[in-house]
Amino acid sequence: MPQTIAVLDFGSQYTQVIARRIRECQVFSKIYHYSTPPEKLRDDGVIGIILSGGPNSVFAPRAPMPDCGIFKLGVPVLGICYGLHLMGHLLGGRVVKGRNREYGHGRLHVSRRGPLFAGLPRRLRVWNSHGDKLTRVPPGFRPIGETENSPYAVLEDRARHFYAIQFHPEVFHTEHGTDIIRNFLVGICRARQDWTTRDFIRQATREIRSAVGDSRVILGLSGGVDSSVAAALLHKAVGRQLTCVFVDNGLLRKGERAAVESLYRRHFRIDLRVVDASVLFLRRLRGVDDPERKRKIIGNTFIEVFERSLKKVGHADFLAQGTLYPDVIESVAIGDNPAALIKSHHNVGGLPARMRLKLIEPLRELFKDEVREVGSALGLPKEVVWRQPFPGPGLGVRVVGPIVPAHLEVLRSADAILQEEMVKSGWYYKVWQSFCVFLPVKSVGVVGDERNYAHVIAIRVVESIDAMTADWTRLPYDLLQKISGRITNEVRGVSRVVFDVSSKPPATIEWE
Ligand code: XMP
Repeated sequence: MPQTIAVLDFGSQYTQVIARRIRECQVFSKIYHYSTPPEKLRDDGVIGIILSGGPNSVFAPRAPMPDCGIFKLGVPVLGICYGLHLMGHLLGGRVVKGRNREYGHGRLHVSRRGPLFAGLPRRLRVWNSHGDKLTRVPPGFRPIGETENSPYAVLEDRARHFYAIQFHPEVFHTEHGTDIIRNFLVGICRARQDWTTRDFIRQATREIRSAVGDSRVILGLSGGVDSSVAAALLHKAVGRQLTCVFVDNGLLRKGERAAVESLYRRHFRIDLRVVDASVLFLRRLRGVDDPERKRKIIGNTFIEVFERSLKKVGHADFLAQGTLYPDVIESVAIGDNPAALIKSHHNVGGLPARMRLKLIEPLRELFKDEVREVGSALGLPKEVVWRQPFPGPGLGVRVVGPIVPAHLEVLRSADAILQEEMVKSGWYYKVWQSFCVFLPVKSVGVVGDERNYAHVIAIRVVESIDAMTADWTRLPYDLLQKISGRITNEVRGVSRVVFDVSSKPPATIEWE
């Protein structure tokens, strides 16, 4: 049993971010429901407790309250935001309902560093998001930091190892936030910093094995980072009990299907079923030029094909998915009652419920960069682990207008050249996405002495953090020239290459 830091979840949108910061400090943590009995925490070997923030006021009719026994376990406690208000409220201080929610940056002045701020500057920019206000410090505590709006932004009770902070150390906008958390974990809870990606893998495989038993698991493999890492992890856990299904929708990039077959079937020896449904997809897409209709047809056909393939695979109890934390739509409280939290998330169009499959999502608490680390540790090659995102509808939304097989072929060839040059020049791994788009217009060119009336390929290369906004990448002219030269020379049917210099917004990353 590893030393465990318990994060009690009071419904904060940042609870998973707290867990992530703890992992960054190489310490093991587990998220628990706020009402978890203290005995359970003790039995789990908990060496410290963090009370998360939350959307409620401690005065709300059904405000989530922990079992007060957690304060008697003799382990350090750190309350964050709502956690501070709870400690104030439950340990004899006074909390009042704030008139306005304080939201945004604040300036913290630390009057006494103590173990929580050891080695850190006394002035820090911090991120606030709270409604209630502490107006009287509970007995045993003393204030050690203040912001413009609160003289009690940080409290400590060194005798009992209780600490409370009003702001959010876990969010990126708080300076030295991870250092504050590390001080709590290492300096105060005396946690060992020995929790690594390999430990995560070991623990995840154990959990998968115990959940799955000797049942069979199906996974829809797209070849993208998330489903690839999920496949490798599940395979490590349950071996031949895992069957992966890869659907060739006819909208894949050059060599993609062969690469997937070679890696998973030959290298990993995974039971991989490749379903070639390209004819069906392309038939249904014939003549369709509206992007939304294309997406709907591709999405619905995928579900249909996948469902049919499951029947062929035979009985399975579990459907595995590479859902990541950012895919999990933030917790939404119904009214004021966090006990009624819904966590909805993307899945294959409601498939698990319809197929009566149990869902297994071993990556659902991880962030993208952590998933990449897990993938590398599992032996996935760099091209897979650092692959750029590729949309579900594939090249279908990169052939503008109706999809014609010959145009798809032109796009595939042009795109392969772009990718090759991006990788060779080292730019592939520096940008968010780089791809070609086929434009259904013709332009005049000249080849030798002959007039060449052919199509146009657009190059789209963008930088982004999360795809919500994006900026076009200033690729070197020499590189652009090389790509353009190779496409017009090597791909028949292209007379012109253009470079997309639109940012998002107002443009989107994909053209359709
Ligand atoms: P847009 O074009 O909306 O794209 O700026 C944002 C990001 O999402 C990807 N994308 C999709 N991914 N299914 C997906 O799995 C889709 O239908 C889809 N449409 C866009 C796009 O490649 C970019 O990374």
